[in-house]
Amino acid sequence: MFQRFRRKRLNSQLRALVREHHVRVDDFIYPLFIRSGEGVKIEIASMPGVYQMSIDVMVRECETLKVLGLHSVILFGIPDVKDSIGSDALSEHGMIARAIRALKQAHPDMFVVSDLCFCEYTDHGHCGIIDHVHQTVNNDATLEISARQALVHAKAGVDMIAPSGMMDGIIETLRLGLDGAGYESLPIMAYSTKFASGYYGPFRDVAESTPSFGDRSSYQMDPANRREAIAESLEDEAQGADILMVKPALAYLDIIRDIRERSSLPIAAYNVSGEYAMLKHAGAAGLIDYERVMMETMLSFKRAGADIIISYHAKEVANLL
Ligand code: PBG
Ligand code: ZN
Repeated sequence: MFQRFRRKRLNSQLRALVREHHVRVDDFIYPLFIRSGEGVKIEIASMPGVYQMSIDVMVRECETLKVLGLHSVILFGIPDVKDSIGSDALSEHGMIARAIRALKQAHPDMFVVSDLCFCEYTDHGHCGIIDHVHQTVNNDATLEISARQALVHAKAGVDMIAPSGMMDGIIETLRLGLDGAGYESLPIMAYSTKFASGYYGPFRDVAESTPSFGDRSSYQMDPANRREAIAESLEDEAQGADILMVKPALAYLDIIRDIRERSSLPIAAYNVSGEYAMLKHAGAAGLIDYERVMMETMLSFKRAGADIIISYHAKEVANLL
């Protein structure tokens, strides 16, 4: 029988020529967690290889990243003092503003993204201002302070903001606020499709942002909903997002593909803390070939349709490439 195309005919060179997808160092954004102090580098037990760092350590870390070819980071601030409205996030002297300024000053060639949310900054650990009557986040009050937060990041010199709180109308609010203040060319990467997920567990250890009551299901999405997931991203596109995101990534590859087919915007996949921790701990227990499974996982994001991968594995991937 005539065979149209047989894998057996491929030698390694031809295999390389016909490979459909590639993982490149340029695909990655590396998350960094910033806290106060000097010379501070604290490893997180649930995420081996991930650290909370003081600004000076973070700036030196970026030196290493650049040597590896990594030029994009996303910053998360962990303030000393948390309160009900996350005041530290609204101050030009707050953790994140100082980190952005120091990083851009030391490494102007680094592309600095800031996570824009309140859960790391509030004493209750929710992603916005709490409406105490309803014991949930007050969407519109949170929009107001989010616009202020965006300007703090913009003035500090950030290259892109990434709102992660899933408030309704957030993209339009931020776009109008930034444009009105002269930051028309500052891009927004929307956490446009963000599920209420158990995979964020280890992140909440790192960012010290576990909600003190309730959960995030009033503002994050039901993992069962595909149509809603698509609609949320398209809504953010309509409001002016420059990049869409699906988070988590691994359990939601179908959603990445769905959005890829419906939008021409770039898509970021957030390979979250729980996904990282699973591979790390399975690798450490000798259950899997860690590097092989890691690269296979990264490739799956590209194959699903992601352009950008936000991952705690980025350094290890860069080392391998
Ligand atoms: C803040 C935020 C979270 C993550 C990124 N930004 C946590 C959350 O929504 O609870 C999760 C990242 C990860 O798990 O790696 N809103
Ligand atoms: Zn949040």
